[in-house]
Amino acid sequence: MMLSERDRAVIWHPLTQHQTANLPVPIVRGSGSYLYDEQGKSYLDLVSSWWVNLHGHSHPEIAEAIYEQAKTLEHVIFAGFTHEPAVQLAEKLLEILPAGFAKVFYSDNGSTSVEVALKMAYQYWRNHGETKRKRFIAFDGGYHGDTFGAMSIGKNLTYHMHFLDLLFSVDLFSYPATWIADKSAIEKEERVLNQIAEFLEKYADETVALILEPLIQGAAGMQMCTERFLKKLEKLIRSYGILIIYDEVMTGFGRTGDYFACTKSSTTPDIICLSKGISGGFLPLAATVCHEKIYEAFLGDTFAKALAHSHSYSANPLGCAAALASMKLLHQSADKRLSIEKTHHEELARLMLLTGIEKPRYCGTIAAFDFNLGGYASQNSRQLQKRFVDRGLLLRPLGDVIYFLPPYCITDAELRGAYDIVIEEIQGVIA
Ligand SMILES: Cc1ncc(COP(=O)(O)O)c(C=O)c1O
Repeated sequence: MMLSERDRAVIWHPLTQHQTANLPVPIVRGSGSYLYDEQGKSYLDLVSSWWVNLHGHSHPEIAEAIYEQAKTLEHVIFAGFTHEPAVQLAEKLLEILPAGFAKVFYSDNGSTSVEVALKMAYQYWRNHGETKRKRFIAFDGGYHGDTFGAMSIGKNLTYHMHFLDLLFSVDLFSYPATWIADKSAIEKEERVLNQIAEFLEKYADETVALILEPLIQGAAGMQMCTERFLKKLEKLIRSYGILIIYDEVMTGFGRTGDYFACTKSSTTPDIICLSKGISGGFLPLAATVCHEKIYEAFLGDTFAKALAHSHSYSANPLGCAAALASMKLLHQSADKRLSIEKTHHEELARLMLLTGIEKPRYCGTIAAFDFNLGGYASQNSRQLQKRFVDRGLLLRPLGDVIYFLPPYCITDAELRGAYDIVIEEIQGVIA
């Protein structure tokens, strides 16, 4: 039996309607920007395998670092014990994050990094005796993961509709999404800033924190906002003394061109959530990093003030070793990231000449545009995705949004070749 058929017999895949889904593509190996199936067919990974891969598949330096670490120490409980890779990684993260960040709390996926941030922020105020604060501010369309806290602040109707009754209430504002030559950007930003200001006039002393995906909302369809907006938002929120949480699970580690969206926009949250690219896409790892004032609020003579949160695989040494190796490569990838951005800029200009292309946008290594396919999980969207796969491109339209989020090792010829295929396929849909 083929791998896909054996899979169908025993596996329930994430985010999949198994009754209508095609058999999964059986991948046997990866190298550079490509994945290879059982027949040897290659797939150019333009989504970095759910936005995690930074430097290419099975990168030998990261593979070697994991192997070396596995021979020495594979794992140790992280309460009451520590190890070199966890400490070194925390030191390196604090080196590249904006000044003010002081402590790293490890977990093992993006959703848990967000859960930890929400608990840190909520308990921060309680530890200060401010028990009235229960409100979180977030943005429509935000996606922060599929655990209950993360679902609450996202409330994504496509993913979370069955659980809405179980989620805590959150005050949502619209994300001022913008694109190339968008004339209404400033007006949208000012409108939402005014709405948030009005809200804070009434509810600031009940509010815990604002959480958002800075610069790019990923799952909402690579919706992009401006650095200017983030700066103004930061100023506004700070003026009311409320905490700011950046979910940089997707935008972290070079995706926006700079190391983080916060460094790119010269803004500083109090808490930042990191995962996905942290280990170069090799192992599940996450970090929630906070300022000293947050950490200090949890100090006390008894356990009652401590952050009572843990995961069995917190700070797994193999994940930390992978992350350290990935960080070295990240420092060497600045030119590659710049060159990807330049190609996106030029290729989007070519795409904009086609009928039906709307809202072209890019930020660092990510580019996207809208093209009416009939929404999320529509027949057209699924068919187009299948055609891309048939033509050797791993691309997953998000509803009506087609986006590119390649690993940094992609060559210019590979990326431009992918744009050529996308243009051909789109012209096929238009015809
Ligand atoms: C911005 C953001 N936050 C959190 C998550 C959740 O991460 P994970 O899937 O690792 O739980 C995602 C996943 O796509 C994300 O894009």
